[in-house]
Amino acid sequence: MSDADEIRDAQRTAWAGLSVSWEKWDSVIMDQLRPVSAAIIDRLDLADGHQHLDIAAGTGEPGLSIARLMPRGRVVLTDLVADMLEVAARRASAQGIVNAETTVCSADDLPFNDAAFDSVSVRFGYMFFPDMIKATAEFVRVLKPGGRLCSSVWVKPAENPWTTIAMQAIATELVVPAPDPDRPNMFRCAAPGYVSTLYEGAGLSDVAEWDVHVELVTRSSDEYWEMISEHVSLAAAALQQVDKQARERIRTHAIATVSAFEKDGKIRVPGVARCIVGTKPAMSGRISGAPS
Ligand SMILES: C[S@@+](CC[C@H](N)C(=O)[O-])C[C@H]1O[C@@H](n2cnc3c(N)ncnc32)[C@H](O)[C@@H]1O
Repeated sequence: MSDADEIRDAQRTAWAGLSVSWEKWDSVIMDQLRPVSAAIIDRLDLADGHQHLDIAAGTGEPGLSIARLMPRGRVVLTDLVADMLEVAARRASAQGIVNAETTVCSADDLPFNDAAFDSVSVRFGYMFFPDMIKATAEFVRVLKPGGRLCSSVWVKPAENPWTTIAMQAIATELVVPAPDPDRPNMFRCAAPGYVSTLYEGAGLSDVAEWDVHVELVTRSSDEYWEMISEHVSLAAAALQQVDKQARERIRTHAIATVSAFEKDGKIRVPGVARCIVGTKPAMSGRISGAPS
């Protein structure tokens, strides 16, 4: 089995297992990540009637928000994992959205024609792709000339205590090896310019990146731990490796640390994402072979 196949298989298993938790914690996750969807949508240059492609859409964002904004348009939500897209379909139906459809596929091998979409979004998907260069080339291939690609990734762990509190608690019981930069992990694309370089390498122009602040809000420290331990890929994977007693000690540690973030009767933990936008150059009017 190739490295890419192995990565896709591991991702399929991991996200199929996490889909139940993502549905359970839907409203908390969506509230936390809403500023990122808003930032992506703001730069996509959407117009009603457009065809939009959402990559690694998971439980449906930002694709479903885009579908609501352009009722005469069409949104295709794609993901490697059918279970995640089934949650997206249930969310679409609950919200009365009829102009969104789902397709199971890998970001690096899209079953769409060239220049089929006006815009493409990827909210927190890039870091999980087996081949990010190939995936970016696919996004550019299916974009119409002049169309925009906008994605988001997490910046470095120190700026994301909403997840590092849990990971530091886990590290009190488990040696968590440094992540392999060539394999999926939540912070794989955290270096400034990382995704911009992929965009420029694929021929996108007007590439820009900027930071977006988020806040994870839970009703209590207990709820914080329950939510993070069930839906964050890194935490869920690490917790499978320890016994019940160690899990309980980790929980106690995380709850004690996160309590410092209590404000107005809620737990409010900050984080920072980075959004990256680029434009597929419009075709020049010059006929190939004609003198310039
Ligand atoms: C953190 S979730 C993001 C979901 C959604 N975009 C959001 O922001 O709520 C990451 C998603 O990437 C998907 N994924 C992982 N590898 C993929 C691949 N090779 N191609 C497409 N999607 C993939 C997972 O199945 C999962 O749904």
